[in-house]
Amino acid sequence: MGDQRPIRRLAINTGGGDAPGLNAVIRAVAVTARKRGWECLGIRDGYNGLLTPQDYPEGGLMTLTPERVRGITHLGGTLLGTTNRGNPLHYPMPQPDGSTREVDRSDEILAAFERERLDALVAVGGDGSLSIAGAFADKGLRVVGVPKTIDNDLEETVITFGFDTAVSFATECLDRLHSTAEAHRRIMVVEVMGRYAGWIALNAGVAGTADAILIPELPYDLHKVAACIADRYRRGRNFAIVVVAEGARPVSGALTVAAREPGRAERLGGVGEKVAHELQALTGHEARVVVLGHLLRGGTPTSFDRLLALRFGAAAVRALAEGASGVMVALDPPTVRYVPLADATRRMKSVPLDCDSMLTARELGISFGD
Ligand code: F6P
Repeated sequence: MGDQRPIRRLAINTGGGDAPGLNAVIRAVAVTARKRGWECLGIRDGYNGLLTPQDYPEGGLMTLTPERVRGITHLGGTLLGTTNRGNPLHYPMPQPDGSTREVDRSDEILAAFERERLDALVAVGGDGSLSIAGAFADKGLRVVGVPKTIDNDLEETVITFGFDTAVSFATECLDRLHSTAEAHRRIMVVEVMGRYAGWIALNAGVAGTADAILIPELPYDLHKVAACIADRYRRGRNFAIVVVAEGARPVSGALTVAAREPGRAERLGGVGEKVAHELQALTGHEARVVVLGHLLRGGTPTSFDRLLALRFGAAAVRALAEGASGVMVALDPPTVRYVPLADATRRMKSVPLDCDSMLTARELGISFGD
């Protein structure tokens, strides 16, 4: 498989949490591959379509004809399905005693690629899926990664698609919450996704005129947030909006983890409730919490995300046609370049505390609880 035989059949999969723009990538890959004379096949549910094809009455692979990918650019979700528990390198296998053991099933994937005469893979995903793609590239599979995540926490690309849609929706929610917060003179605490990075909270919080933004990169002291809110009420602004990233944590406190299960990343969630409870106690003002959660992942991608996703999809096929492998397509305005997959997944892209958006937020009087 490490040979450079011509590509005739190209596979594509989507892995990890879905993000608005996945269908646009699928369409761009299918259409541009076909223009090069390649057949394009989608693997269902990450790698599961190859690992457990018997689970799919219509087959584990979906032939992506032009008809199949017609009219999907604007749709959220993913035509192919996705999973965040099907890592073939650490596949969770139920044991007779009821426990779960992780096994390496990567060789089965490589054998399936041979069996199905698949010559290359476009792997669309976040850090987890791109690390898997990198491992397959090391094993000789021809693979190009496409970065996807609403969290925007991937190094080497200026932005990932899905992020703009998530931020736009969160901002709209903040706009809507202002009037009800003001009507009831309440503190509204809005918890947003983003895992261990504060990009969604920061960007939506600034755009949506929050009074405080709590991000994972900067552990917070709620006494400081409460002081800011009290000051605001004293000035006659009798409500407050606080945006909390799900990965935010107090100074010398821990992350709020909603669940841990073998074979998948820990699930965050619940910090908003704690923050609302404590701010109510500290300020004496009524507080409510809104958890935006998966609403941030749903719906129509913004035009920015659609365009980026289409550019990434076309660039991934272009990269393969140029003989590239083991790379990820990355936005480096005004162009899309290819970067080694290993560089893209080496570390998480956190919010730099001295970045322009942080400075702007502080200059606008937004508290980070520090
Ligand atoms: O990585 C995308 C993301 O939406 C994170 O922001 C969030 O922590 C996680 O996925 C949620 O995953 P799940 O859908 O498995 O609950």
